[in-house]
Amino acid sequence: MKLDHPELVDLLKQAYSAEKAAAFAYIGHAKSLKGAEAKDAVKQIEMDEWGHRHEVLEIMNEYDIPISKYYEIRFHLIGRIISASCYIIGRFMPFYFAGRLESGNVCEYFRMKQYFNGLGIAVHDKVLYDMGIKEKEHEVYFLKQIKKDKLLPLFEKLFSWGDKTSFNNIDIDKKYPLEESDPYCKIEEKK
Ligand SMILES: [Fe+2]
Ligand SMILES: [Fe+2]
Repeated sequence: MKLDHPELVDLLKQAYSAEKAAAFAYIGHAKSLKGAEAKDAVKQIEMDEWGHRHEVLEIMNEYDIPISKYYEIRFHLIGRIISASCYIIGRFMPFYFAGRLESGNVCEYFRMKQYFNGLGIAVHDKVLYDMGIKEKEHEVYFLKQIKKDKLLPLFEKLFSWGDKTSFNNIDIDKKYPLEESDPYCKIEEKK
């Protein structure tokens, strides 16, 4: 079956490649950190991203959606550059920009779910919900690492993400179950 939804198809292709960029970035990030606990936590997040890439590919294969060569090259480079930069930009920035990126990724999966549901397809709900929530957990983890950093208020003002600002409306402490998760990242709210 072919998916008659160009936005959804593009979102899937982009997510597939962006997960690789994230995984690459976390390889460098984990290596640049001190302490086994911090390294292991970021390593686990890297593994989550490879898992997401696999899940997205499974969905793409179901609808014969090809992998985008353009996105693959673009995100390969982005991932490698971020990975290398982790060694030179100090401790704060890799955590900050990882958290900011994760914050945006959360809604990508909930938006995919809404697009699929709009086509009358609900079989991917669980996997998309789980991936969206996992990205939220990543965001929360990264924010926690820099919550007390003196730079956070300034960066929050400059880059619109931080302790009080997020790119999604999910509260991980009071999360809705799958069946009630429709208000998450409502497409109308993005306008
Ligand atoms: Fe991911
Ligand atoms: Fe993530």
